[in-house]
Amino acid sequence: MANGYYFTFLCFSLLWSLFGFSFGHIIPRFPSSAVRAEQLSGSASTQNGLYRTEFFTQILDHFNYNPQSYQTFQQRYLINSTYWGGAKKKAPIFVYTGNEGDIEWFAQNTGFMFETAPYFKALLVFIEHRFYGKSVPFGGNEEDAYSNSSTLGYLSTTQALADYATLITDLKKNLTATESPVVVFGGSYGGMLAAWFRLKYPHVAVGALASSAPILHFLGLVSPYAFTNVVTQDYRSESENCYRVIKGSWKQIEDTGATPGGLELLRRSFRICKNYISTGALEGWLSTALLYTAMTDYPTPSNFLNPLPAYPVRKMCNAIDNLGGGNDTFAKMYAAANIYYNTSGSATCFDLDDNSMSVGLGLEGWRWQACTEMIMPTGGGNEESIFGASTWEYKSRATYCEAVYGIEPRPFWITTEFGGHSIEVVLKRFGSNIIFFNGLRDPWSAGGVLKNISDTIIAIVAKEGAHHVDLRFSSEEDPEWLKHVRQQEVDIISSWISQYYRDLMVQ
Ligand SMILES: *[C@@H]1O[C@H](CO)[C@@H](O)[C@H](O)[C@H]1NC(C)=O
Ligand SMILES: *[C@@H]1O[C@H](CO)[C@@H](O)[C@H](O)[C@H]1NC(C)=O
Ligand SMILES: *[C@@H]1O[C@H](CO)[C@@H](O)[C@H](O)[C@H]1NC(C)=O
Ligand SMILES: *[C@@H]1O[C@H](CO)[C@@H](O)[C@H](O)[C@H]1NC(C)=O
Ligand SMILES: *[C@@H]1O[C@H](CO)[C@@H](O)[C@H](O)[C@H]1NC(C)=O
Ligand SMILES: *[C@@H]1O[C@H](CO)[C@@H](O)[C@H](O)[C@H]1NC(C)=O
Repeated sequence: MANGYYFTFLCFSLLWSLFGFSFGHIIPRFPSSAVRAEQLSGSASTQNGLYRTEFFTQILDHFNYNPQSYQTFQQRYLINSTYWGGAKKKAPIFVYTGNEGDIEWFAQNTGFMFETAPYFKALLVFIEHRFYGKSVPFGGNEEDAYSNSSTLGYLSTTQALADYATLITDLKKNLTATESPVVVFGGSYGGMLAAWFRLKYPHVAVGALASSAPILHFLGLVSPYAFTNVVTQDYRSESENCYRVIKGSWKQIEDTGATPGGLELLRRSFRICKNYISTGALEGWLSTALLYTAMTDYPTPSNFLNPLPAYPVRKMCNAIDNLGGGNDTFAKMYAAANIYYNTSGSATCFDLDDNSMSVGLGLEGWRWQACTEMIMPTGGGNEESIFGASTWEYKSRATYCEAVYGIEPRPFWITTEFGGHSIEVVLKRFGSNIIFFNGLRDPWSAGGVLKNISDTIIAIVAKEGAHHVDLRFSSEEDPEWLKHVRQQEVDIISSWISQYYRDLMVQ
């Protein structure tokens, strides 16, 4: 069947005109980058006073000495010194290594740092990733910065990490806090950056908490099916009926769509707006709901692309199961989709051609990254897959990237630069002080580090957990396992910092 995920909302139509709709061509994004711009406007920053905003003059190109390499841009960072013990006490500095999106959103969703800062007397710093949010090179003009590969060429993981090292070092100097230990934090892509930062810049950070960081989710390291398998398991674990209804829906949608008047029937069944419908778009829309709900299957309400209730996978399956055993698959799928797209109850119809969501989301930035370094095979699956059987092919990605940017991806650069093969053997004798957290309900956990590697490279695995659930603000409804995970993380980070102070004394 044809099924699967959006690539992005933005290049929807482009994709389908290139390939038709098929699973393997689609690139699932991390949920954290799928935040609506309006969720940030009038954001908590000013109202709640979570941080102060600063800008740093950052160098465009850390690795070359051509004249244009010396160009600079304004890099945004957020800072909160309320709890800091100060430079004299060598009190710690906690740095969030920003992801592919507006840094304010990550700060507002990383309660773990705010909530542990008083205990550690830590300074909090959140650094925005280049090309996202307000940290856009080429005069801060997104149109220029995203215009073509000669400008986007400066968007890479190595440049981003070098930005963080440069900024942190300069900030410590300004604060006369050169001896304060720095701990880096990140979730999702930001977690990958945090882990890589610790490995590359051990002289800048004493440790890293890398939450839901799929550093092994690269071509040649992971089965492309692994991701889908987790999604399948998530729904199946709620109910076998739910799984079977979803799995069977694709063919019914396609069969119906192919009949005269079928698209109209689908439009009415799913309350799709009049402007645009196709079977592929409908399947993409449904798959997106299933996929992001699986990633964000949190025990408390959340608000990523859309507001979601607690335990949303269970809610979706309940919606399906409650409609009984009849042959009204579309009503069941509509009910499930409604949980994802209409929790607020304010949707009048669903727009399959909605580009508004792309505004300010840095979608173009991630598309570029997914076409250069971030070749993370996700999609395709076997007969058991909730999306039906299909294959993932690198070739499709390459064709797409050639069409959009006129470039060829470098699928093996990340593993060449940062490693990944035999990671247990390699990191056993190299590197230290990294926590890899993964929740097994998160499809990205398929590419996470799930085993302890050494005494100081620790895997914390929560079988009930979803995408970087540990970093979220705590709530009274948090289950015991989640409280325990956070306590474990605090204890481990404490041990790194104590060790660092002891090491300084012996010098
Ligand atoms: C820092 O964070 C704390 C906790 O959220 C908040 O109470 C305080 O006002 C913040 N400080 C600044 C300068 O934003
Ligand atoms: C790429 O975009 C920049 C900025 O908009 C422009 O100056 C340059 O001419 C473009 N290069 C190519 C090859 O199109
Ligand atoms: C450090 O201070 C200099 C001089 O005031 C300033 O230009 C620079 O932006 C500061 N660095 C950071 C990281 O804020
Ligand atoms: C259920 O409905 C679909 C689409 O209308 C139809 O193809 C299928 O035969 C029906 N199945 C049963 C068991 O009635
Ligand atoms: C969204 O939910 C509300 C309240 O349950 C409902 O009245 C409305 O019809 C739903 N919208 C769509 C497009 O289904
Ligand atoms: C790794 O070791 C810690 C104790 O240091 C333990 O709590 C944790 O469960 C271990 N992780 C795994 C995946 O076995």
